[in-house]
Amino acid sequence: MENLDMKYFYNWFNNYVKSFYSNDEYVQQNIKLKEEHTKRVCFNAMMICKDINLSEEDENIVELAALLHDIGRFEQFKVYRTFNDKVSENHALLGIKIIKDEGVLEKLDLKVQNYIFRVIKHHNMFKIPDDAGDEKTILFSKIIRDSDKLDIYKVVTDYYKEAGDKKNTAIEHELPNTDGYSKELIDDILNSKNSSHEYIRNRNDIRLIKLSWIFDINFNISLKYIVEKGYIEKTLDCIPRNEEMSNIKISLYKYINKRINE
Ligand SMILES: [Fe+2]
Repeated sequence: MENLDMKYFYNWFNNYVKSFYSNDEYVQQNIKLKEEHTKRVCFNAMMICKDINLSEEDENIVELAALLHDIGRFEQFKVYRTFNDKVSENHALLGIKIIKDEGVLEKLDLKVQNYIFRVIKHHNMFKIPDDAGDEKTILFSKIIRDSDKLDIYKVVTDYYKEAGDKKNTAIEHELPNTDGYSKELIDDILNSKNSSHEYIRNRNDIRLIKLSWIFDINFNISLKYIVEKGYIEKTLDCIPRNEEMSNIKISLYKYINKRINE
């Protein structure tokens, strides 16, 4: 297969996203948020590809999947003014529909198109399904899921830092800022389990669930990156401090160190 013309796809992406730019400050802020998120996910994906020595051909497929993984976000925000799939629609499936309608991938081999569609479909699932497809589909899906999570850590921890004056309800889905947190989330983290969204009731919970994602991280380089950037501490800093949280921190680091030293 000849190399993908990445310039063409970046060009398409930039033009497509620009068509959502708006004079409405709230809309514009959130379109930019996802545009910049996407570019950083591409960057993260390349970091992982290099670390695992992926071939250039496969690297191109992963980069294109990264570029298109959240393409449904723009239409989603335009129509529903939210990034919450639960109250709007699944942004991955919406993205796949848009890519098909716009014929973005039509010049590519069907096999490559299928990789991209499957990776997009898997990127926001609770876990990669058992019938996900061949080994490469699973590998590519794992890379995009890690790359996406790494940037969500960046986006939300940056947001916590400035949330006092610059509130963006699209990031924490208008969850109440109440005291306490879900016991189920704590139990899952202490048992090294990625926790379910059904336990999220307030802002502490949506922060805690991001810590449970550590157990769904696929590559050691991603875990090292999370540690290096201090995402665990930055997240814990935004949850009331107590003994339970200290135990969570110990348990997360125990898991990470074991994985990294394996
Ligand atoms: Fe997404």
